[in-house]
Amino acid sequence: MNEYASVVRGVGGYLPEKVLTNDDLARMVDTTDEWITARTGIKKRHIAADGEATSDLAAIASKRALKAAGVKADDIDLIIVATATPDHTFPATATIVQNKLGITRGAAFDVQAVCSGFVYAIATADNFLARGQFERALVIGAETFSRILDWSDRSTCVLFGDGAGAIVLERQDKKVAGERGVKSVHLRSDGRYKDLLYVDGGPSTTQTVGHLRMVGNQVFKHAVSKISESVKAAVEQAGCTIDDVDWFVPHQANQRILSAVAEKLGLDEAKVVSTVAEHGNTSAASVPLALAAAVDDGRVKPGDLVLIEAIGGGLTWGSALIRI
Ligand code: UT7
Repeated sequence: MNEYASVVRGVGGYLPEKVLTNDDLARMVDTTDEWITARTGIKKRHIAADGEATSDLAAIASKRALKAAGVKADDIDLIIVATATPDHTFPATATIVQNKLGITRGAAFDVQAVCSGFVYAIATADNFLARGQFERALVIGAETFSRILDWSDRSTCVLFGDGAGAIVLERQDKKVAGERGVKSVHLRSDGRYKDLLYVDGGPSTTQTVGHLRMVGNQVFKHAVSKISESVKAAVEQAGCTIDDVDWFVPHQANQRILSAVAEKLGLDEAKVVSTVAEHGNTSAASVPLALAAAVDDGRVKPGDLVLIEAIGGGLTWGSALIRI
């Protein structure tokens, strides 16, 4: 039994100003608002401005999370950025965010698990905090997927958007934390499925950035079964049941996946936080953005048991149960 708990102190999100609607996309590729809405639930997505980098989005979301937590930037000694769209091949986007926040102590690094990145980053931060190695972490999911989309491929370019979400996770003695904190984490990956969702470029292969490629319908099938299994594992590990979960904050890839998983798990859809319609799929940013939205509008309250989950390229997938 760990003597520390990793407690969520504050959450923040940021979406770039520019909005791209389904009708806008219908003027760019052979698609319609009807098709996108029926197949995905997405109505619009946000797109980073020229010159607006992943670290810029991450820094704004972080400042909002710090403000919500009532914590100064200087109080942070660990920064983890989950991203598949870093500013540069290196240094890590986390170090750029660290500098933008004026933080000069502690450690900062990136986690690369594509759409599952935020769940992996939470798991990583939780382990560091539980071992007492760091005190207060900024865990960030930030993406500019608009930069790696093939804007002539209608099967992918309609799905994704840009954004960032951040949480301040704090080490607390279990006696102080009470029931709050990260209760369980379940992580998985299986590289046999790497060709279902990938980017066809990279520094050591093509020396280019490349574009996102996806066999959507196969990823869809894996998503429903693998997320359901992972959620069951995380809930079981925490010693509770699906009915104990107050809010389900899933990766926002497709409304049909959210509904299918809810049905498979016997979960009341009223407990599912969905931002698919407004944000599209923002990869590693989607879970913290959805959590920030639900905290800001008062749905998720202190003491609530929140389940987060995601699946993405690799394939990677996972889930975590957090008492807010
Ligand atoms: O975040 C990482 C995880 N990612 C996901 O979870 C995404 C998972 N996959 C999905 O969300 C869905 O598979 C999609 C939304 C990508 C596609 O929906 P689908 O129901 O699986 O459609 P499909 O790929 O089987 O394609 C059906 C048809 C095809 O036409 P034919 O071959 O039946 O004539 C496509 O060419 O829809 C066509 N199509 C489109 N039509 C209009 C594909 N994209 C579009 C489009 N507009 N944008």
